[in-house]
Amino acid sequence: MDKILIEGGEPLRGRVRISGAKNAALPAVAACLLCGEKHVLRGIPGLRDIRTIQEIMSGMGAEFQSGNNGLTVDTSNLRDGEAPYDLVRTMRASILLLGPLLARLGRARISLPGGCAIGARPVNLHLKALVSMGADLHLDRGYIHARADRLRGAPVFFDIPTVTGTENIMMAAVLAEGRTVLKNAAREPEVSDLADALRGMGARIEGDGTDTILIDGVRDLHATTHTVIPDRIEAGTFMIATAMTGGDVVIEGCRGEHLSAVVQKLQSVGAELVPVKEGMHVRGPGQHRSVDIKTMPFPGFPTDLQAQFMALMSVADGSSIIKETVFENRFIHVSELKRMGAEIEINGNQALVRGRAGLLPAPVMATDLRASASLILAGLVALDGVTEVRRIYHLDRGYENLETKFQGLGARIWREKA
Ligand code: EPZ
Repeated sequence: MDKILIEGGEPLRGRVRISGAKNAALPAVAACLLCGEKHVLRGIPGLRDIRTIQEIMSGMGAEFQSGNNGLTVDTSNLRDGEAPYDLVRTMRASILLLGPLLARLGRARISLPGGCAIGARPVNLHLKALVSMGADLHLDRGYIHARADRLRGAPVFFDIPTVTGTENIMMAAVLAEGRTVLKNAAREPEVSDLADALRGMGARIEGDGTDTILIDGVRDLHATTHTVIPDRIEAGTFMIATAMTGGDVVIEGCRGEHLSAVVQKLQSVGAELVPVKEGMHVRGPGQHRSVDIKTMPFPGFPTDLQAQFMALMSVADGSSIIKETVFENRFIHVSELKRMGAEIEINGNQALVRGRAGLLPAPVMATDLRASASLILAGLVALDGVTEVRRIYHLDRGYENLETKFQGLGARIWREKA
């Protein structure tokens, strides 16, 4: 298992290009199941999760080819719809295969995704919506067995705005008979990006980006070429890192409108963020003001940047309250940050962070994807020694060449085999 080492103290300076969004790439790859032709996807990041979904789909007969022109996905020889437990348990987003497989083949066997470090991660809202569209589902030995001759459009109300739930049902609905109306739908940019990809295949979708999405089913779709949006969580991670280190960085490919809540909070901290034609120019302050945050579905502050922002608040002036409202167990990074001297008290779904002048280098353990990023950011400001972040395979699920990108900005950071 690899580990990443950081010798803190260097302000980040220069330019960094953001990779394509993991959480847009996964549904886009799954959407290729809907039409048995050759699709071309661009901007697909080289991540462990992307390799995992390709491995699962290859097992069903999908063929992948990556080249300069992007990732070609050919699902013309789709033979089976099984997503095995040993792969699904490593990537919960495999549930995104259920909707398109039911729409295309009328059958699917998907392992129930287990929980993960940040929460139980139920999929009940996905299943309830598919049943309302006429799917016959039953659970057996940890697998969802699904059948449907032809899904019927239906009114769907999500008790909670679920990102992959919205995406799954959108994909199920594009080939269904009649109209599907999604209410209390997720509004994340990745949902709109998937809608763009599906419209590129000939789907009839409107309202994506709002809480009500209308889909009119069609009989057939056709091949598409689609470029996924930049990864706003990676961009936000670099924004926070630049603010933390008092740096000066142009983040290329960053779209401010995908991160308005984060931009506003970082400006309150004292950072300067100016949109430029390549993306966003960020300058970090010498001193950091403490600012409270509460994670919310888009367009609120994203839960996927909560851990990174907590690392920043650990070195701010004064105290801040960080409230996590999306996942029930997303403070696992706190104990590791405290090993570096951070002063944090958890009370239910709130964390009180008492900022202090600096953090101390220490060996720490990554526990989930975004917690890993927060520990690296803490290492960037831990002085007089080397911070060692272990179990870095968590990081490789969702960040492409992160340490190389930080090296390019002047950070003293490197990877070693553990
Ligand atoms: C997506 O997960 C993202 N993953 C997550 O990113 C992100 O944190 C999350 O959305 C919230 O923005 C992908 O897009 C692949 P949800 P998802 O369904 O869809 C509850 C990362 O680090 N819920 O929007 O699984 C759920 O428990 C990952 O890149 C149900 O109760 O999240 C949670 O409390 C982590 N029943 C809330 O809704 C359901 O059927 C929001 O979850 C579905 C969800």
